[in-house]
Amino acid sequence: MPAIVLVGAQWGDEGKGKATDLMGGDVDYVVKFNGGNNAGHTVVIEGEDGTREKYALHLLPSGILTPTVTPVIGNGVVVDLEVLFEELDGLQARGVDTSRLVVSANAHVIAPYNRTLDKVTERFLGARRIGTTGRGIGPTYADKMNRVGIRIQDLFDEGILRQKVEAALALKNQVLVKIYNTRAAEADRVVDELLGYAERLRPMVADTSLVLEQALDAGANVLLEAGQATLLDVDHGTYPFVTSSSATAGGACTGSGIPPTRVSRVIAILKAYTTRVGEGPFPTELFDDDGETLRSVGAEYGTTTGRPRRCGWMDTVIGRYANRVNGVTDFVITKLDVLTGFEKVPVCVAYEVDGVRHDEMPVNQTDFHHARPVYEQLDGWSEDISGCRTFDELPAAAQSYVLRVEELIGARVSAIGVGPGRHEIIQRHPLLD
Ligand code: GDP
Ligand code: IMO
Ligand code: MG
Repeated sequence: MPAIVLVGAQWGDEGKGKATDLMGGDVDYVVKFNGGNNAGHTVVIEGEDGTREKYALHLLPSGILTPTVTPVIGNGVVVDLEVLFEELDGLQARGVDTSRLVVSANAHVIAPYNRTLDKVTERFLGARRIGTTGRGIGPTYADKMNRVGIRIQDLFDEGILRQKVEAALALKNQVLVKIYNTRAAEADRVVDELLGYAERLRPMVADTSLVLEQALDAGANVLLEAGQATLLDVDHGTYPFVTSSSATAGGACTGSGIPPTRVSRVIAILKAYTTRVGEGPFPTELFDDDGETLRSVGAEYGTTTGRPRRCGWMDTVIGRYANRVNGVTDFVITKLDVLTGFEKVPVCVAYEVDGVRHDEMPVNQTDFHHARPVYEQLDGWSEDISGCRTFDELPAAAQSYVLRVEELIGARVSAIGVGPGRHEIIQRHPLLD
């Protein structure tokens, strides 16, 4: 059976977690292929009695909430072991069965000194900071590329682990002490801390590429779930205001060991408006009451850091770009309900940069920083849409909004989110073959 990739189309927090959870019943494996605990996925599950259970997942794939799914942490992920076990314990305490989790032997470990380096580097950058989540993500991927990283499998060979930690610290401690004027990390303490997780981790560790290939051969459905999103991708995003991993569809292959020829669908999650956390350019950002309304109605506060998210209107130049770099087969528009109550809903269709119209993302980042949105004003609607379960039930203006966005982004909209709950969604086309 084929593999399916699910990515974020904008700057993250589009509702990937909810979409993955929604598909959980129909897939056998959910693989996280990039990022680490910088991600924050909120999944809301409605009980039969009307109660709502909210889960915030950071490191574990969102599929973990479905009892029949095998969750996989792929080789492209960076793992903070303390967070991994905290999250597992937290879910177990709430009755979630986490025993099927499989972790790649090749995934990299976020060493404690990389958490420190992330924070002090940001402080050092001052006004030029990226606004990272401070979880050690960037320095850990830098170590991976620099070939001084620690991998999960190193925890099972104390001699190798010690050598690697000492080699990494030979340079890092100079930087920590001499440049950042902070304390050096002690190799022994780091090694002991990491070894402390080894025995609990051991039964979960596998060659996940092999596990997944065998699963696909046996007819399983595999969902590859991105953390972050297209414009936070280290290659295709708004560099340097990006995360340090490959969050686009191509990253699903390198980050899992599943070849591109196995992937049959790419689903992109697109919020009905735009948000961004951290620094960096954002053409449709709002600084007025409308922005404040989107933030408060959409509850746009970070799942990971609690920071207020920057909010703005839908940007279909970004939607088209996400379609292009990910090869999207299906879009899921989320949070359409948040737009209820606006008289007019502007949609950005192009940019203007120094008097020149751009229908596609400008080649140069400087132009993107200066881009002024060209808006089309669509009619709003005032009816509560959270109870709608078919496209026809939506008010005419909401239908027109979806259809116009679909036309502008160039791929079909297969589902529409109308509320945070698991069932608050309109399905137009099946997301699985
Ligand atoms: P992710 O990082 O892409 O998984 O997204 P987050 O979980 O960080 O942020 C999305 C937020 O929107 C979560 O709080 C979800 O519960 C919520 N959400 C998802 N879909 C919808 C929707 O259709 N309507 C509303 N109102 N909320 C939604
Ligand atoms: P999910 O998976 C939104 C942002 C940070 C910062 C930049 C770099 O929930 O969509 P990092 O700590 O990764 O080095 O920070 O990326 N960022 C996210 N923004 N959603 C996320 O994940 C993010 N993960 C990282 O705010 O601007
Ligand atoms: Mg999030």
